[in-house]
Amino acid sequence: MRLDKLLAHLNYGSRKEVKKYIRSGLVLVDGDVIVDDNYKIDESKAVITFLGKKIEYKELLYFIMNKPKGYICATVDKEPTVIDLIVGYQNRGLFPVGRLDKDTTGLLLITNDGLLAHELLAPKNHVDKIYEMSFSGVFKEEYFKKFIDGIVLDDGYKCLSAKFELLSANKGRITIKEGKYHQVKRMMHALGLEVIDLKRVLFGPLELPVDLKEGFYRELTEAELKLLKR
Ligand code: URA
Repeated sequence: MRLDKLLAHLNYGSRKEVKKYIRSGLVLVDGDVIVDDNYKIDESKAVITFLGKKIEYKELLYFIMNKPKGYICATVDKEPTVIDLIVGYQNRGLFPVGRLDKDTTGLLLITNDGLLAHELLAPKNHVDKIYEMSFSGVFKEEYFKKFIDGIVLDDGYKCLSAKFELLSANKGRITIKEGKYHQVKRMMHALGLEVIDLKRVLFGPLELPVDLKEGFYRELTEAELKLLKR
């Protein structure tokens, strides 16, 4: 990749600005000052420093976010998107892995790794998702079995077996292995119950970190990424 393109890609400045930095001798590649703004590098190997600081370049990015309410799971929209919350990674092809509703909070994976996202979302892979919720209506004992047997949604689709745990009269936790449109709300609705608040607390091997506040995100650790790829 061209050095100026890489630096611009990493938001060190516009293409014009980074060319200026390069020509001014602010950028070193493998210890040598590079003043040629057309210089090409192998970004997987080159050690690049800018103003004496080593630049970390990763082609593939993985973030875990605690999605706040009011944001859409899309890359561009007329309303604010979850990608708008990620600072400093413009034009890196980030997208949310799957969708949470605008009013749902909790664990959301954001990446530019299309292959991994595809695997995580493939229905055949049955990746566990756990949601905690508050709901209105009266939860009856017989509903537990209905979740296990498979709730039939309004369009006739029979959900895969799910596990429902009642945490208190109007709070529950559900484990599902698929991700149909508005699935949890529709499953509850099928029983005459209405979801008031919904939060995802687990996605595959990833749990929502307790110290990750709504609206915040961080990169996945190596260990988390390894678990996810497994
Ligand atoms: N199920 C829903 O109904 N909404 C979500 O955001 C996620 C799962």
